[in-house]
Amino acid sequence: MQQQHISPNTSPKIDTVQNHAGSTNAPSTLAYDVIIIGAGASGLFCALTAGKRGRRVLVVDHANKAGKKILMSGGGRCNFTNYDIEPKHYLSSNPHFCKSALSRYLNWDFIGMVSQYQIPYHEREHGQLFCDTSANDILQMLLTECRANQVTIQLKTTIQQIQALPDNTGFVLTVNQQANQPAHQKSSEQTLTCHSLVVATGGLSIPTMGATGFGYQVAQQFGHTIVPTSAGLVPFTFTDKIGDAIKSLSGVSFEVIAFNERISFRLPVLFTHRGLSGPAMLQLSNYWHVGEPIFINLFPNLDMAVFLTEQKKQHPKQLIRTVLNDQIGAAALPKKVMITLQNLLWQDMAETELANIKDEKLAQLGEQLNAWRLTPSGTEGYRTAEVTRGGVATDKVSSKTMQSQLQPNLYFIGEVLDVTGWLGGYNFQWAWASGFVAGEVV
Ligand code: FDA
Repeated sequence: MQQQHISPNTSPKIDTVQNHAGSTNAPSTLAYDVIIIGAGASGLFCALTAGKRGRRVLVVDHANKAGKKILMSGGGRCNFTNYDIEPKHYLSSNPHFCKSALSRYLNWDFIGMVSQYQIPYHEREHGQLFCDTSANDILQMLLTECRANQVTIQLKTTIQQIQALPDNTGFVLTVNQQANQPAHQKSSEQTLTCHSLVVATGGLSIPTMGATGFGYQVAQQFGHTIVPTSAGLVPFTFTDKIGDAIKSLSGVSFEVIAFNERISFRLPVLFTHRGLSGPAMLQLSNYWHVGEPIFINLFPNLDMAVFLTEQKKQHPKQLIRTVLNDQIGAAALPKKVMITLQNLLWQDMAETELANIKDEKLAQLGEQLNAWRLTPSGTEGYRTAEVTRGGVATDKVSSKTMQSQLQPNLYFIGEVLDVTGWLGGYNFQWAWASGFVAGEVV
């Protein structure tokens, strides 16, 4: 990736000239009402909304393709929204910030658009809506709307400099567009001007898909602060004995309650060769900080302290693993898991009949089975994270329009902001909603 420089926000006012992109190697100057940096979910949605209002919109992206994350989302089927969207499904230093935009562009609005385009979709558990065929249906819908509303999308474009005009009437951007045929033509420098500048560069997750911290740099250039970022909706990693035990169960999945002092989720956990994944762990990762323990209730339907002490009365001759296997029925854990847990949690009592184990010890083990305490060594990080926690602090951004309160005509939308959704279509709904409210005013 090319290096990007951002200069201080002062420059002389320049006259703008209409021109055609890429027609010559000489620097050209192009004027737009709105320039959106980032052709992802929020940027495209903002573009089509502003385009519908008759604004001349340019979307620039350094990637060679628009909407790459949309294409890879939801396992290629894009979980584009959820039937149940509420502010409680979002994390932010200001939990109220997301309310206004989410109430002005609803999941039903997006579902309406999907239906209008006759995109087949289905509901999965917890109200999640996925495409039947391909995430590409959603991307093509957005691109069609952009085209219909005369939005220009310019890819392979690196932003080198952003300057605000001294009278705050707009911005001047110096960009470099990589030539389509490098053998014949070098990259061309352009000067772009706009009245409104929208930063829609997303978060840091999946750098190979074009994620950069550029949006944070732009925010800082104009005086905004950044809430420290970290990987969210991401698998946990473990080291040592626990790490080895987890690896040995790679591929096993079952329903648990994963929790910490902030939140709990009743969802499947998935053991992998790197650690713990699956919806339960991804959701919990949004609420986890380095060094903290997490807890897993392995038997969400039973109070295991009560269960084990009762089993002692009814089946005094049996072993712990036998009652866990035989008496729990459908809720019993896979045998492989049981043996691993036995090695970790009750090896000293593994071959002792229940009658010979003290009630307190059984109760203690029961509590552990309902709240297995694990301390992750970390997470898989941005390499596999679905989202980035933190981002541009919302305290100096209007929750109604996404406009900066520090720099007129500057906007931040989507994941670049300190708004992080749960797993389940919430992050796209935030991208659509924040893109929409900005698109209505830029
Ligand atoms: P997004 O990342 O979509 O777009 C940012 C754009 O900015 C990119 O096109 C990038 O190339 C561009 N850009 C970055 N830096 C730039 C620079 N310096 N110059 C120019 N352009 C630059 N959510 C959900 O609700 N349902 C789901 O099913 C999934 N699934 C999913 C799977 C995977 C694997 C990931 C990684 C993520 C998801 N998500 C998801 C999350 C969702 O994809 C994400 O929250 C939105 O795409 C965020 O939209 P944005 O527009 O903010 O950023």
